[in-house]
Amino acid sequence: MTPPQVTQTVDAVAGAPRSGYDADMSDDYRQLLDATIQHLEGLKSRGVRHVAIAPETLRALAQPAPVGKIQISNFKSQIQPTAPVAKTEPVISTLPKKTPAPAAPPKAEIPSPRVEGTKASPGKIAAFTALRERALACIKCPSLASSRKNVVFGVGNLEAKLMFVGEAPGADEDEQGEPFVGKAGQLLTKIIETTGLSRSDVYIANILKCRPDTPGQSAGNRKPTPQEMQTCIPFLHEQIDLIRPQVIVALGATAVEGLLGKTLGITKLRGNWQTYRGTPLMPTYHPAYLLRNQSLSEKRRVWEDMLAVMEKLAMPISEKQQNFFLKT
Ligand code: URA
Repeated sequence: MTPPQVTQTVDAVAGAPRSGYDADMSDDYRQLLDATIQHLEGLKSRGVRHVAIAPETLRALAQPAPVGKIQISNFKSQIQPTAPVAKTEPVISTLPKKTPAPAAPPKAEIPSPRVEGTKASPGKIAAFTALRERALACIKCPSLASSRKNVVFGVGNLEAKLMFVGEAPGADEDEQGEPFVGKAGQLLTKIIETTGLSRSDVYIANILKCRPDTPGQSAGNRKPTPQEMQTCIPFLHEQIDLIRPQVIVALGATAVEGLLGKTLGITKLRGNWQTYRGTPLMPTYHPAYLLRNQSLSEKRRVWEDMLAVMEKLAMPISEKQQNFFLKT
């Protein structure tokens, strides 16, 4: 089992190093520091009074602030937890590409939610990396922590305008450390691509970051318990706070329940816009449901929900897209 990471605690916010803060530190470092402080203040405002911090991190923070350009990878290594953690999913998809961002589209073009190549700020990347490291080291649900192969944090673009939220990792996701890579995930990828986007344009996460354990069962999944959802949901709240998508798609009843606390049933809720902390949220069926129920009418319902999402994001919709899954 992964040993606990917590070796020392510091007061939230008060623990951030202030000495020399206004002196000659680089803009990048100041940005990272500001983002870290902002993140700690966010935690503090939600009632968190202590944060876990490894001795290496404290030692690194105590070093004089760098003056020149800093490497994100250096900062990342400063916040690596000390103890070994489960194999991690590649972060690369959440990091900015080295290639320059594409030229700005002509003014008349409809704004598109394609964000490939868009760079998240170093501060955002640092805050996201720190959040991810906390999730990877989490052992709050002991049975899940001991049965998991990987913590499945999330994948995609930190500048995504569209975010998908599912229930919890299944066996394939646990194996690979990435959400929605099994059969349901492949269908989700098809749905995303049918809108004209790719997985790298959006962000994908789950209510639970660990696979719900199924002791005594050799196959199958189980729904997360209310206790597991309550324990894990703060990670998702923070992911959404950092990404700030324009639209969230909640895949299935558990995602809706986790994000909105609504247990009305996905059949009643799907297709009707909801609001998650001011962000429009579209509930729709989970792709696993569509795999079980192959009827054209259910596929069309999900597709209509996606058309509503595309409209909300001012994405262009072709006639072909408009007519998918309609009986001829
Ligand atoms: N189902 C989910 O809800 N999430 C996954 O990541 C995979 C399957």
